[in-house]
Amino acid sequence: MGELAIQTKGLHKSYRTLRGTRVAVDQLDLEVPVGGVHGFLGPNGSGKTTTIRMLLGLCRPSHGTMHLLGRPVPHHLPQVMGHIGAVVERPRFFPNFSGRLNLELQAQAAGVDRARVETVLKQVGLAERANDAYRNYSLGMQQRLAVAGTLLKDPQLLIFDEPTNGLDPAGIHEVRETIRDLGREGRTVLVSSHILSEVEQIADTVTIIGRGRMLASGRVVDLLGARASRMRVQVDDPTRAAQLLVGDGLAVTLDGPALLVEGATDPARITRLLAGHQLYLRELVASRRDLESVYLELTDRHDLRPGDGPGIRLPPLPATARAQEN
Ligand SMILES: Nc1ncnc2c1ncn2[C@@H]1O[C@H](COP(=O)(O)OP(=O)(O)O)[C@@H](O)[C@H]1O
Ligand SMILES: [Mg+2]
Repeated sequence: MGELAIQTKGLHKSYRTLRGTRVAVDQLDLEVPVGGVHGFLGPNGSGKTTTIRMLLGLCRPSHGTMHLLGRPVPHHLPQVMGHIGAVVERPRFFPNFSGRLNLELQAQAAGVDRARVETVLKQVGLAERANDAYRNYSLGMQQRLAVAGTLLKDPQLLIFDEPTNGLDPAGIHEVRETIRDLGREGRTVLVSSHILSEVEQIADTVTIIGRGRMLASGRVVDLLGARASRMRVQVDDPTRAAQLLVGDGLAVTLDGPALLVEGATDPARITRLLAGHQLYLRELVASRRDLESVYLELTDRHDLRPGDGPGIRLPPLPATARAQEN
């Protein structure tokens, strides 16, 4: 159990509404390995905040079990909370106090040595602006100050719910860099987002959910690799080429003057086949699918009904990804 920072089993939350019950989180088995950044992805309303609130004891699951840092929660929450930092809602700071003073007050309230304030200010890149009033901070700086606040206790596990919401591109970049650095220090960071590109570049592992259900989970590299590769092919006679490729068991679609060929991992197979019929390639580009298209495809097409099973499940996280810091 020590190898997972976060683990849920059959986590479920339904709300009673005027029109019946609404399932916010549906039998979710979340596994976040120790160390690195784990992206928690899903469209708006897919249950990310509800999951995070349950993990932090802010709302109660309908059923299911949860472990944080190997301890069952909410039962052991008092013991583990000292090792966890989280930003779930917009942080509240005193607008007229400096960033530093705000953190000093937080440190005092948490019983943390004031010397930590300087360390965490540096860690989030705010040391130079620490004396400015909080109200003069950009949104990105405000968010980084919130992250600094969570670092005061030097936590092993950090949980950030959509930390880049409402930020401009510069702010998004700042927060992203900060989170990436935290992951590299060997901490575990769970970061939720509905925008894939925001976590794609910083996440080592991801979980994708839709309508409260797990759609995919695993290492980012595996998630991309698990998809069939696609080639873009241009020849003088695309119709004839398409017939040949389809005849060879490949899926082909027209894309303007080009053909998109699915399912061929070896470009030589296409070259050989077409050249054998005097069709010579003018272009052959392997377009490796990015996570964005995987994400859109999964979240678009997963019109699952209850009882349909757990959706697509990638191979479990490899032992190496799990065993860090043991
Ligand atoms: N307190 C609540 N009462 C009723 N429904 C809720 C409540 N909180 C969340 N929901 C519903 O649960 C679903 C998941 O919401 P949420 O966890 O906020 O999603 P996300 O954070 O991924 O946008 C949504 O359909 C939302 O409307
Ligand atoms: Mg949310």
